[in-house]
Amino acid sequence: MSLVIAIDGPAAAGKGTLAKRLAAHFDLPHLDTGLLYRATGRRVLDAGGDPSDAATAEEAARALLPEDFSRADLRGPEADAAAAAVASIPAVRAALLDFQRNFGAERGAVLDGRDIGTIVFPKASVKLFVTASAEARGRRRWLELRGRGIAADLDEVTDQVRLRDKQDRDRAAAPLVPAADAILLDTTDLDADATFARALALLAQRLGTAGRSQ
Ligand code: DC
Repeated sequence: MSLVIAIDGPAAAGKGTLAKRLAAHFDLPHLDTGLLYRATGRRVLDAGGDPSDAATAEEAARALLPEDFSRADLRGPEADAAAAAVASIPAVRAALLDFQRNFGAERGAVLDGRDIGTIVFPKASVKLFVTASAEARGRRRWLELRGRGIAADLDEVTDQVRLRDKQDRDRAAAPLVPAADAILLDTTDLDADATFARALALLAQRLGTAGRSQ
């Protein structure tokens, strides 16, 4: 199989930034799988539907088009809630599975999400489970919001992070859980550069030699 790097973990743990950097380093395509659920939720909202209605959400997932992923309104409280609702529906997850598998199958890929190492690519070359304390993740999300000019309360943002953790962990369909063979990477005390360096070292150990770096 081509090199498939699976990166899972809770919200705001630094998965996305790490996945992009690893993809550039290994010259692989990158898929942020959260966007699939966000775009599905957004489609349902656009049509005035209920994101927790299974039939409506499945139909939206099957109708996704490439342009849905570059919309500007895929983030924010309403989009977060709609994404979490559609992500807990098994028919939606099933509808999005082939796309994710095909994306990685041809020439390898870095995929980040919640169930990449457990469900989408159980035989991935290497699996990282990226996590950090809720306080550290709340603070990062808060700084990110501030950077975008959005005033928010740090405690409220941290509470929202905890709520999303609970939703992701407690759902019956593909709950957030590290794969048995995932390598844990705690980024509580690491910035983006240190996280990348640590991930490269872990990958080199797991893949043998220096991985496939050019
Ligand atoms: O990573 P994110 O915050 O963009 O994810 C949006 C939502 O989709 C979130 O509720 C978790 C869910 N998700 C999922 O269930 N499985 C994935 N592979 C990726 C995201």
